[in-house]
Amino acid sequence: MALIAVAGSSGAPGATTTALALMSTWPLEPGYRVILAECDPDGGDVVVGALAGRTPGGYGMRNLALAARTNQLSDAFWRQLIDLSETEAQDRLLLPGLTDPAQASSMQYAWNPLTDLLLGIEHTTPSHDVIADLGRHGGTGPSSALVRRADLVLVVVRSTLRGVYLAEPRVRALVEDLEAHGTGQDALQLLVVRSGPYSAGEVADRLGVPVLAELPDDPRAAAVLSDGDDAGRRFPRSDLMRHAASAADRVRAQVTRRRVRLAPRSANPPAHPASAASNQERISHAG
Ligand SMILES: Nc1ncnc2c1ncn2[C@@H]1O[C@H](COP(=O)(O)OP(=O)(O)O)[C@@H](O)[C@H]1O
Ligand SMILES: [Mg+2]
Repeated sequence: MALIAVAGSSGAPGATTTALALMSTWPLEPGYRVILAECDPDGGDVVVGALAGRTPGGYGMRNLALAARTNQLSDAFWRQLIDLSETEAQDRLLLPGLTDPAQASSMQYAWNPLTDLLLGIEHTTPSHDVIADLGRHGGTGPSSALVRRADLVLVVVRSTLRGVYLAEPRVRALVEDLEAHGTGQDALQLLVVRSGPYSAGEVADRLGVPVLAELPDDPRAAAVLSDGDDAGRRFPRSDLMRHAASAADRVRAQVTRRRVRLAPRSANPPAHPASAASNQERISHAG
């Protein structure tokens, strides 16, 4: 259904944790999957964070640069995914990020075809939604297509003076780029992590961008996602996960609203090319 970009800024506001919480609670009807793609040029940390190194390394974004140069991106892509779903469904998947910021330069020519691919897989069977974690610096320069073509760009910001102050240049740059080259400033919304004195309304006023949803300050649940702490029985019902589930619903509703608004009036119904083979068989490292 969608490509959703999640952007952080300096000061570790919680972009990766929020992206993972959204992915884990993403509402999935049968025949749908969601992928968290770690598109942070500074490197991904889910494999050593949430997964605490429990999955084999070696998979992920760093293998896609060469594949893109040799026109083998779409085959290579499915082999890099790790299954994070808790059922047999293989419907919550991770594309691990770079393991060293030095690899970012090799991705320069891969971002455009990768964005094409991420946008195109909503039309495969099953259909895929993609949540792209852009980190502090991603979605600019060579990877700006991820922002310009996303259905929604969500900036995670903490409601502290420091959080808002550090988010300001990031938000400004994203707004300018969306206005000049993307789908417009209204693609941008905030996810506010409540951890300071400012209300969501004050944060929105200061940054000039609306708040789509608020997330609680919930260090215990956040550490499950950021550092692989033991989830425990209460984790799925934690404050963070309950709010993430309602944020995920709002994200989906907002994507639908924007698509309706941006759709050309005379457009024919979108074509849904049937994929020749189910992607299910192509994810060799899931599980
Ligand atoms: N909603 C939250 N409540 C409390 N702590 C959080 C929350 N989200 C993230 N954190 C914590 O903030 C720190 C940075 O999170 P992370 O997701 O890695 O940030 P980023 O990806 O923006 O650098 C981690 O220690 C994480 O556990
Ligand atoms: Mg991060």
